[in-house]
Amino acid sequence: MSITELDPPPDVAVRAQGLAKTFGGHRAVDGINLDVRTGEIFGVLGPNGAGKTTMLRMLATLLKIDAGRAEIFGVDVVDQPHVIRQLVGVTGQYASVDESLTARENLWLFGRLQGVASSRARSIAAELLEQFGLEEAADKPIAQFSGGMRRRLDLAASLITRPPLIFLDEPTTGLDPRTRGQMWETIRGLVADGCTVLLTTQYLDEADQLADRVAVIDHGRKVAEGTPDELKTAVGNSTLQLLLAQPDDVPAAVRVVRRVLGSEPVLSPEQGRLNVALDQADLAAEVLIALRTAGVSISSVSVAKPSLDEVFLALTGHETDGDEAGNAAGTMEENR
Ligand SMILES: Nc1ncnc2c1ncn2[C@@H]1O[C@H](COP(=O)(O)OP(=O)(O)OP(=O)(O)O)[C@@H](O)[C@H]1O
Ligand SMILES: [Mg+2]
Repeated sequence: MSITELDPPPDVAVRAQGLAKTFGGHRAVDGINLDVRTGEIFGVLGPNGAGKTTMLRMLATLLKIDAGRAEIFGVDVVDQPHVIRQLVGVTGQYASVDESLTARENLWLFGRLQGVASSRARSIAAELLEQFGLEEAADKPIAQFSGGMRRRLDLAASLITRPPLIFLDEPTTGLDPRTRGQMWETIRGLVADGCTVLLTTQYLDEADQLADRVAVIDHGRKVAEGTPDELKTAVGNSTLQLLLAQPDDVPAAVRVVRRVLGSEPVLSPEQGRLNVALDQADLAAEVLIALRTAGVSISSVSVAKPSLDEVFLALTGHETDGDEAGNAAGTMEENR
């Protein structure tokens, strides 16, 4: 493959072609092509063991590439690893820094290790602590930090050198819903400031909320790519699940759904229960309002969206291997 073939247009932040890694005969990453555009959030979605971390580590020069090639902003990852390390901020490195030091000391030290002058490292640390809402905890040892605070500090540390591209490996796994939401806001803020973000996740809802485009990987191979909406459409739409207070109201409810959506609800064998397929989750509100206007009362309602399992089933013909894969079925608040 010639260099010219790989010459990316200036709007390409990451380009990988045929990227592969084998561990003792097992192809953890098995020929992945990837194009991440400058300024976007690109999500790599896959279950445990899909090869997400291995792929990121190769792109970040932390792991040898066995086959294929990769470029970051047009710079070859293998030929110029020192340049790549200046272009990419990687989270996950922070764990190696001293637990007994405070957040502020850690950030300063991290800056110094990256060759930033002492006074500059001090002022950047102060800015980052403020940006990440860690000012109050800034002078506590990180041994006392919660999981969410650690993630934020980890992300802050990867930003000290102001890299234009950030790799986030499962930035919200294990965080509570509120802290996840804060992390999403933080990530959006980085992109608003001009960063490009490549993140991995096991959660369809995270990819949905954050990513402009998503690649789904399974057993080291890319099985699908597109916008979150394209992926969801490939799997099917959200479903509004209704249980009517009065089973006798079913015919009235059916008429309302026909009128509002122009489609037929699916009646469940269970009395008074019906499922309504939705093109968009927010159409649920229209149906609910119309039902209330028609005097049909509802005893329970939920909107289910496709889970990662369903995405996988639809795309690969098999289910995700682990039971830890994200559960994206949710309440209406969680749906857009
Ligand atoms: N250093 C290593 N030595 C041997 N095998 C490895 C090594 N690192 C990863 N693997 C294997 O490669 C495959 C991909 O692992 P990887 O960590 O990239 O998956 P992942 O998608 O990041 O999963 P998770 O969601 O659990 O983080 C797995 O089968 C894993 O066991
Ligand atoms: Mg991983």
